[in-house]
Formats: sequence, structure tokens, C-alpha cells
Amino acid sequence: MAQRFDGKVALITGGARGIGYATARMMAQGGAKLALVDINGEQAVASAAKLAAETGTQAIGVKTDVTSEADVLAMVQTVTEKLGAVDIYVSSAAVLDDKLFLDSKPADWHRMIDVCLYGPMLCLHALLPGMVKRGYGRVICLASDSARLGQARLSYYAAAKGGVIALVKSIAQEVGKSGVTLNIVSPGATNTELRMEREASMRAQMGEEKYQRRVQTVLRMYPTGRIGEPDDIAAAISFLASGEASWITGQVMSVNGGFAMP
Ligand SMILES: NC(=O)c1ccc[n+]([C@@H]2O[C@H](COP(=O)([O-])OP(=O)(O)OC[C@H]3O[C@@H](n4cnc5c(N)ncnc54)[C@H](O)[C@@H]3O)[C@@H](O)[C@H]2O)c1
Repeated sequence: MAQRFDGKVALITGGARGIGYATARMMAQGGAKLALVDINGEQAVASAAKLAAETGTQAIGVKTDVTSEADVLAMVQTVTEKLGAVDIYVSSAAVLDDKLFLDSKPADWHRMIDVCLYGPMLCLHALLPGMVKRGYGRVICLASDSARLGQARLSYYAAAKGGVIALVKSIAQEVGKSGVTLNIVSPGATNTELRMEREASMRAQMGEEKYQRRVQTVLRMYPTGRIGEPDDIAAAISFLASGEASWITGQVMSVNGGFAMP
């Protein structure tokens, strides 16, 4: 039986773990070949091997810093040589900083903008021309509801993600007729290593009692009564990456258990 992603090549930055890896697994189960691209090269290679063993698909891990143009160009060449032309690009690579705006330094801003906005721009520059030429492409960039609503202590993360939303909508208008679609998936709090690291740091700062009160307060903000799991987000990304989503472009899909309804 034909599968959703048969014959497709998917490239996922930040694919070594978290939402990126969950998405890779879902696409591999649907028949895609996978490139897991990550600054953590060891984990990217290990995750690709795990994926190949579990699903029988062809998967490679490629060490890449998305903020480096040379890295990105070399990575796209490697992926194309080993797997074929890229049909699906998922931008999941990110960093997170928990700091008040007034405590933030220009260097904090540079790092965040580099990874979360400049990185996707470099990847899009490298991948879009081929997609447009071949008349097919699916781009899904991960943003955050903090970009749509604002969030205390995440000002520069939210600002970078807001930039990605604007970038994706603008390019979606430029290439609309080419068969390439670009969309945003905007997750609410999702149980990945990234979130666990932030939670651990808050727990250490607040102490156990205050932290547990915060956990309950946060849960009350989610009408569905739970925090998200990576597969919740991967399912939305996979839909937007599929052939069924050909008339959806330039959209922001919040996948957030009802936390915000922007
Ligand atoms: N987890 C959440 O609660 C949550 C909420 C909203 C938005 N998001 C977004 O979803 C996406 C995935 O988040 P996650 O929780 O899976 O994160 P994660 O930290 O688990 O995974 C991110 C990956 O990006 C990689 N990475 C970091 N800098 C890189 C660079 N310069 N070049 C290449 N790779 C780099 C990391 O090594 C890591 O493997 C991110 O864009 C994040 O901003 C996550």
C-alpha cells in the first residue's frame, strides 16, 4: 500500500532530539528518507541509526551549525548526494533563554537571532531554489505561541520566532504558484529535553513548593488538561508536509492543547 511520504526526502534541523526527532520518526513510518541535521553531530548520527533500525528507512545524521552558511551549504550537498533532492524541510533547531529583557545583553540577542531566524534563512536560501525548480516542496518552521502573545522572560526568543513567522508568510506569497508551500507550527509547552531543561532551572531557582504550585497553575491554563507530547506536534507537522496540504500556505497552526486561541 502506498504510504504518505513514499519517495520523499525530508531534512529536519534540530532533528537529533525532541520535536524534530518525533517528526522524523513519524515521517519515516510514512515512507520518507530522513536527514537529521543538528549541531550535536553525535546525537544526530545516533538518532539516525536508531530511526533506520526501528523503521527500516534510509536515515543519515549530519553535524551542522545552522548559523554557518558554509556548514549549511555543505550539509545540503551531502544530503542531496546521499538521499536525493530535498522535498520537505522542517526547521526545528532552536535554543531557549530564560531572562528578563532588562537583563539581556546584545550577545544573547545575537545568538538567539542567529539560531532561530538567521539559521532558517540560510537553509531556505539553500533549499528553496531546488524546490521551486522541481515544482514541489513543503517547508514547516517551528515557532512558538510566545511570538503571537508575548511572554515574560522570553522576549528575544519570542522576537526571533515572530521574525520566522513574518519570513515564512512573505516567502509563501513569493513562491505560491510554484508548488512549494511554507507554514508555521506553533507549539504550546511540549515535554521535550528543551522544556525539561528550562523546568529544571526554574525548579532550582524557585524551590520545590513554589515550583509545584507553578506546575498546577500552568496545567490549569491548558483546557485539555495536559502538557503536549512531541508526537502531538509531529502529527501537525506531518500533515502540513503531506500532499494533502497543498492548498495550505503562509499559515500559523498553533498546536497547544487550547492554551491560547489567537
Ligand atoms: N518544547 C517546547 O515546549 C516548545 C514550545 C514552543 C516552541 N518550541 C519550538 O519547537 C522546536 C523544537 O523544540 P524542542 O523542544 O524539540 O527542542 P530541543 O532542544 O529538544 O531540540 C532542538 C535541537 O536543536 C539543536 N540545535 C540547537 N542549536 C543548533 C544550531 N545552531 N544548529 C543546528 N542545530 C541546533 C539542538 O542540538 C537540539 O537537538 C524549536 O524550534 C522550539 O523553539 C518548543
